[in-house]
Amino acid sequence: MSTGQGTPAAKAGLEGIIAGKTAISTVGKENVGLTYRGYRITDLAGRSTFEEVAHLLIYGSLPGQSQLDAYRKKLAGLRGLPQPLKTTLEQIPASAHPMDVMRTGCSMLGVLEPEGEGGRTAQAVADRLIASFGPMLLYWYHFRQRGTRIETSSTDNTVSGHFLRLLTGNAPSLDKQRALDASLILYAEHEFNASTFTARTITSTLSDVYSAVTGAIGALRGPLHGGANEAAMELISQFDTPDAAEQGLMQMLATKRLIMGFGHRVYKNGDPRSDIIKGLAKHLSEKTGNMSMFNVSERIEQVMKREKNILPNLDFYAAAAYQLCDVPTSMFTPLFVIARTSGWAAHVIEQRSDNRLIRPIGDYIGHDVQEYVPVEKRG
Ligand code: COA
Repeated sequence: MSTGQGTPAAKAGLEGIIAGKTAISTVGKENVGLTYRGYRITDLAGRSTFEEVAHLLIYGSLPGQSQLDAYRKKLAGLRGLPQPLKTTLEQIPASAHPMDVMRTGCSMLGVLEPEGEGGRTAQAVADRLIASFGPMLLYWYHFRQRGTRIETSSTDNTVSGHFLRLLTGNAPSLDKQRALDASLILYAEHEFNASTFTARTITSTLSDVYSAVTGAIGALRGPLHGGANEAAMELISQFDTPDAAEQGLMQMLATKRLIMGFGHRVYKNGDPRSDIIKGLAKHLSEKTGNMSMFNVSERIEQVMKREKNILPNLDFYAAAAYQLCDVPTSMFTPLFVIARTSGWAAHVIEQRSDNRLIRPIGDYIGHDVQEYVPVEKRG
């Protein structure tokens, strides 16, 4: 197949197309797997913290202890929300999806604290967004749910701990904080996925980092991408027992329904992040003495493997893990935003370092040339 211009046409969805160079991550690379700047995901998720990974992605290296302490302190100091942003958040109705709150909050902060003003760099904007996305969402949430205006500044030293404490009003258990932290590491970066490619495309026009992140949030929102973790929870929560899940799933497969949280464009033999998040979900289930959701999830996984040979992606067991961390379902994808902002920022910076406008061509499949007929003669 070729385009009208004699160029080979891309496969649908640009599958398998190399769309640019990157030194940020490898996804499914033979004998290497998933790495962030050369570090294996198993080491990062099992042994580091989200702040270390954010530093790795945004600044290019893992921080030493004193750098990490300073970075955590810096992020903690960036959690306050300017009054006009709070006013905007208060205008958003309770019925809004939290992803719309994230998108609007990002855009509004870009109005109030533009990139470039006073020497504000892309890295500074990334840190500000990572620190303030949770506060934006939870300020809106508490205002809309209970009419309270919460104080979002705090000295909590982790993004995950701060999020859970603002959400529930209490310090989280170490298990929950660690599970959320590890999930943020898993969600932080994934090469040229749809939202990151969106961010790179926006950046390639020489636009600003807030615009890139706002557009990326829009791309992430859909259920074929980040929205899959919420859709997976909706699926899992329909079933009370593994047997009911098996029966329900068989019916869904018979009608060719997509099962959210399964399959992947790049990983056809399994998503390496899935085993890690599954382990975390299992650990949390055992700790809380509530295995029911985990057992339902595991049966769905078994049926999908048996019937379709399709394996879970990160979003599937993230649903159970987040539910066990007391996170409302509609906040699952916003947590993905907080994590992925570090990856998006890394790609914005990389795109700028060797920029060329991203402007592919279309494979025209429309009418041949037609003669124009003036409106009064068209009948
Ligand atoms: N449930 C049921 N069938 C699935 C499936 C799923 N989750 N994922 C893929 N398939 C089937 C497709 O229907 C297709 O079957 P067909 O050949 O009979 O038409 C086949 O597997 C190949 O899938 P395809 O749609 O070509 O894969 P893709 O690379 O275009 O899509 C996803 C990848 C991720 C968009 C797709 O797997 C999906 O929609 N998954 C559910 C959403 C999700 O979890 N997204 C998060 C991704 S991290």
